[in-house]
Amino acid sequence: MPQSITIATPTDFHLHIRDGEILKTVLPHSANEYGSALIMPNLKPPVTSLALAKKYKMEILQALPVDTTFKPLMSLYFTQNLNGPAVREAYASDTVTAVKLYPAGATTNSDSGVSYYDGIEGTLETMAELGMPLLVHGEVTDQAVDIFDREVRFIEGILEPIRKRVPTLKVVMEHITTKEAVQYVLEANDNLGATITAHHLLLNRNAIFQGGIHPHHYCLPILKRETHREALVNAAVSGNKKFFLGTDSAPHPQGAKESACGCAGIYTAFSSLPLYTEVFEKKNALDKLEGFASFHGADFYGIPRNEGSVTLVKEETIIPDSFTFGEDVVVPFRSGGSVAWKVVG
Ligand code: NCD
Ligand code: ZN
Repeated sequence: MPQSITIATPTDFHLHIRDGEILKTVLPHSANEYGSALIMPNLKPPVTSLALAKKYKMEILQALPVDTTFKPLMSLYFTQNLNGPAVREAYASDTVTAVKLYPAGATTNSDSGVSYYDGIEGTLETMAELGMPLLVHGEVTDQAVDIFDREVRFIEGILEPIRKRVPTLKVVMEHITTKEAVQYVLEANDNLGATITAHHLLLNRNAIFQGGIHPHHYCLPILKRETHREALVNAAVSGNKKFFLGTDSAPHPQGAKESACGCAGIYTAFSSLPLYTEVFEKKNALDKLEGFASFHGADFYGIPRNEGSVTLVKEETIIPDSFTFGEDVVVPFRSGGSVAWKVVG
């Protein structure tokens, strides 16, 4: 009998599935492992209004395999123009679960994001009143700041002032990558949570330069030193309810990654739950996987946990070289390699 583990059906609290042809290819990979996912709004053009969120949700529902109960949880893109009445209407509609704040220019499709923070307080106060979470891409955009320090500088210079001004606002630091971020979340009150990706748990920054430059290991926030990876693993397996699963699976066409100016984003959705399971197993912490993957996030958001369960067995599984969509392909994390676990139902 292979080793197996059954957990309550998990949620991916940070997922990029894009739109059009690529959506049809990548969405079933997530729907196969998760009961729900918080869908990122950084489309071109971005999902800046309730009307656009409804349209995007409809496109997702239509692309889902027929026999699935997968639930897309939608987010709105924070622009300088987003106001209190708009978030109130969006939250009341039952379509929108959270608002995502990208500092303008910080990452893929973030140009319409926020460049100054003084005018956004009223919107944040409305969100705090509603209990609607603010999701932050936590990196400063000042190009003079070293790329490996941008998360820490965001915490000190932007996040801490925001949280001081609106202390009741629920905030999720998305895809944390440093031991300083772990520490900051641990020391904060219960209004601060954080997602952690599988790739930041598995790789340190050496992976970007492994035997030559490795564009499929380039993401933002960029991979950090081994000491940071270790801090993230310890946080994830600790059982602390402030830390939960968010893959930041971010597919790009192969040509956009393998290019003179390659895009940031790693496509993990095909095998992300098995990848997380590898990490927890290595730390002898399989008993903590369910909290991290299935309970902490829903409880933080104040939404119902998913029904049902998923089972993984310990069985080496090959990861395909690529997946085709239209005339293009997307190359997954560990393409052509393998993962130690497999979702069986
Ligand atoms: C994401 C993408 O491609 O949309 N890229 C990434 O490197 N993580 C955007 C983001 O979450 O930063
Ligand atoms: Zn992301």
